[in-house]
Amino acid sequence: VVGGQTDDCFAEAVRIGLGSMPKWLPCRYFYDTAGSRLFERICDLPEYYLTRIEERLLRTNRREMVERFGTTPVIVELGSGSSRKTRWLLEAACARFGTIEYMPIDVSGPLLKVAAEALTDALAGLRVTALVGDYRAALDLLRKRRECPRLFLFLGSSLGNYERDSAIALLRHIHDASHAGDRLLLGTDLVKDAAILEAAYNDASGLTAQFNKNLLLRINRELGGRFDVGSFIHRAHYDAARSRVEMHLVSRHEQQVRIDKLGMVAAFSEGETIHTENSHKYTITELQELAAGSGFVEELAWTDEAGWYRVQMWRRV
Ligand SMILES: C[S@@+](CC[C@H](N)C(=O)[O-])C[C@H]1O[C@@H](n2cnc3c(N)ncnc32)[C@H](O)[C@@H]1O
Repeated sequence: VVGGQTDDCFAEAVRIGLGSMPKWLPCRYFYDTAGSRLFERICDLPEYYLTRIEERLLRTNRREMVERFGTTPVIVELGSGSSRKTRWLLEAACARFGTIEYMPIDVSGPLLKVAAEALTDALAGLRVTALVGDYRAALDLLRKRRECPRLFLFLGSSLGNYERDSAIALLRHIHDASHAGDRLLLGTDLVKDAAILEAAYNDASGLTAQFNKNLLLRINRELGGRFDVGSFIHRAHYDAARSRVEMHLVSRHEQQVRIDKLGMVAAFSEGETIHTENSHKYTITELQELAAGSGFVEELAWTDEAGWYRVQMWRRV
C-alpha cells in the first residue's frame, strides 16, 4: 500500500468539496468496492462503447504493442481496475518474453487483489506486484527503482478525468518516473456526436446513475452522512465548448444534509449540483500536443473505423 488512500483523504475531500461553491467531489472516490463493481458492469453496457472498442484495439494489435521492446519490459498500469483488457497485452508479452512483471496501481485494493489472483492463475510466467494507492504516490515509489525498460499503461480514457493542466502534470509525473526509451500506452476517447457521448453516460438501465449516486452512499457509510439518495438526480451532459462530458448530482429540492463525522451540514438549494466527474474528449491534434507538452513522442496509434476511440503508444524522450 502506497500513500494517498486513507479515510482521512476522503473526509478532507468531502469537507472541501461540499464546502465549496459550486460543490464538487473528486471522481477517484467513486471507486470503493461497490463503485468498482458498478463500473465493471458499466463496461458491458451497450451504450458504453469505450471499453468495447479499446479492448478490440488491444486484442487486435497486442503483438505490435509489445514488440517495440528489445528486452523484457516491466508493465506498469495506472488505474488498472479489473485488468480485464490488459490481459490481452500480458498474454502477448508472456508469449514474446517468457516471463513478465506486471505492476498494477489502483486505489481499489480489493479489486486489485482479485485481479492479481485471476491473472497469475491464468498466465504462467506472470509475476504481479500490486500497488494500492494514488497514481502519484505510486509513481514516486517507482521513480526510485531502476529496472528498465518499462511499458506504462493508462487505459479506459482515465486521462480524460483531468483538466488540461492537471493532465499534463500527471503525464509529466509519468515522464519523471520513467527513463528514455520507456513507453506509455494511452487509451483516449475522441470528440464525436454529442448524442453518442451523452448516451454513454446516461445508460437506459440506470447503472451510471447508480454509480454516480454511490458517492453519496459512500459518504453515508464512511462519514456518517445523512444523504437521502432519492432526493438527488444523476445528470450527464456534453459541454461542446470544453469538449467534456460532465457528471453532476442535482438536488431535487432545498435541503440540508448532516455529515456526522465531519460535524458539518451541507445546504443545497433546489437544482444545485455536486459536480462529480469530467470526461474530456480529444482531437488527434490535442493528443499530439499533450505528448509534446509532457516529454513524449508518438510512435504508433490505433483508431477504430468510426474514429471514436484511440490508443496511442508514446516513447519517453
Ligand atoms: C475509469 S476506471 C478504468 C479501469 C480500467 N483501466 C479500464 O480501462 O476499464 C478508473 C480506474 O482507476 C482507478 N483510479 C481512479 N483514480 C485513481 C487515482 N487517483 N489513483 C489510483 N487509481 C485511481 C479506479 O479505482 C478505477 O479502477
